[in-house]
Amino acid sequence: MAMQELLATKPISDYQEEAASKGLARALGIPSLVAFGIGGIIGTGIFVLTGLAAAQHAGPAIVFSFIIAGIGCMFAGLCYSEFAAMVPVAGSAYAYSYATLGEFVAWFVGWNLILEYMMAASTVAVGWSRYFVKLLDHYGINFIPAQLTSAPFETLGSSFQMHQTGAFLNLPAIAIVGVVTALCYKGIKESAFVNMIIVMIKVSIVLAVIAFGFKYVNTANWVPYIPENTGVYGQFGWSGILQAAGIIFFAYIGFDGVSTCAQEAKDPQRGMPIGILGSLAICTLLYVMMSSVMTGLVPFRQLNDAAPVAVALESHPQLAWLSGWVIWGALFGLTSVILTMIIPQARIWLTMSHDGLMPKFLGKIHPKFRTPHVSTLLTGMFAATLGGLFPIGILGELVSIGTLVAFIVVCIGVLVLRYTRPDLPRPFRVRGIWFVSIMGVGFCSAMAYGLPTATWLRLLLWSLLGFAVYFLYGYKNSRLRKRNESEGYGRGAASKA
Ligand code: ALA
Repeated sequence: MAMQELLATKPISDYQEEAASKGLARALGIPSLVAFGIGGIIGTGIFVLTGLAAAQHAGPAIVFSFIIAGIGCMFAGLCYSEFAAMVPVAGSAYAYSYATLGEFVAWFVGWNLILEYMMAASTVAVGWSRYFVKLLDHYGINFIPAQLTSAPFETLGSSFQMHQTGAFLNLPAIAIVGVVTALCYKGIKESAFVNMIIVMIKVSIVLAVIAFGFKYVNTANWVPYIPENTGVYGQFGWSGILQAAGIIFFAYIGFDGVSTCAQEAKDPQRGMPIGILGSLAICTLLYVMMSSVMTGLVPFRQLNDAAPVAVALESHPQLAWLSGWVIWGALFGLTSVILTMIIPQARIWLTMSHDGLMPKFLGKIHPKFRTPHVSTLLTGMFAATLGGLFPIGILGELVSIGTLVAFIVVCIGVLVLRYTRPDLPRPFRVRGIWFVSIMGVGFCSAMAYGLPTATWLRLLLWSLLGFAVYFLYGYKNSRLRKRNESEGYGRGAASKA
């Protein structure tokens, strides 16, 4: 096995041919793409993690954490936009890496994107299950035994030791993944339609919390705005703001999923940048306003709850009526996150399968629905199994690290391609690419650095497993390697590029 084979890049012309080929249905206009981004972004992060990050790390300055994480994502979003408009294929970060940094890096990114999309679908399904139980409670319904609504396995703290909880299965988590998978199987148009309605509902509820809550903000709750550091890194002060930024980074994950719809967009050259950056900008604004209102309604320490928005609202009797709506908002919100995570995962597998790095059956497209139905089903089955068996913590922490790895590689790749293929038409050209790329890598690395050591170890184990699968399957079946070998190394790739 030669280094040359591992570093072989897939010619951009191949991607351009793939993008032009018929197969997936081109059904998504700009509003659907922006809604797809918002559908993926607003979820567990704002409805659950904000409270914890404010209460334990940043206080009212959680607003700064949202701005910092938002800026970091904006740099990555700019790089994604340049790539997605130029190479509008379903493989997203995996495909961009294949075109710039070679097969081995592409595999590494594709493998880690499983952590992002599939694990996120499972994590959010577990969160959905909690809100579902809460909703039933709200209406006085409690006939489902607890053994059927929680995970049978749990870890102690961030250790590797697993123990049984006595529960049997998280049934609502499995059910929601099943329903959403069926929708994704049926069609991208149908999925986009349902997503659009859900996004309208959840954004309306977020706006209602901001608008009604604003009147009851007590500015005394914002003093001191940056609580003094306790002497421990990450407990308030500026280090706390940074740590909180790492935690609520999860709240932004999802905008990148828009890039996996490039082959289903009506006008990807315009639609990709608007979908990616537009959804990111709208959500950053909503997050800043919502976290300001939440920390203004109650002293920040009271937000240390799995349902912090409800805590903030219920602290004012005049706002209590809204808290039932927030449960509905969260349920709808989380449903669209699951939807917008299953769709990208299926498309990444589709692209990897076309490249020979994943089995052929994952690359099948349904003749009538024009969706990657086999990879969609498999994604749903894995996500449902994980969501049904494991708790939210162990699943969620892998999502952030997998996503950050992809962001970092995309930020590097976009710069590399400026030098290796300066001639390519770039419908969306990022200005100051050196600055954007370096800042993107810097911000994402800083956020990854803040994640717990156990998460890094899990990433290492996951990557080792991925390398084993690559050398046992992907390397042997790589279409690029076979073609390069038959054409003679260097000549084929170079001449086609
Ligand atoms: N950004 C998504 C959420 O917060 C993953 O649920």
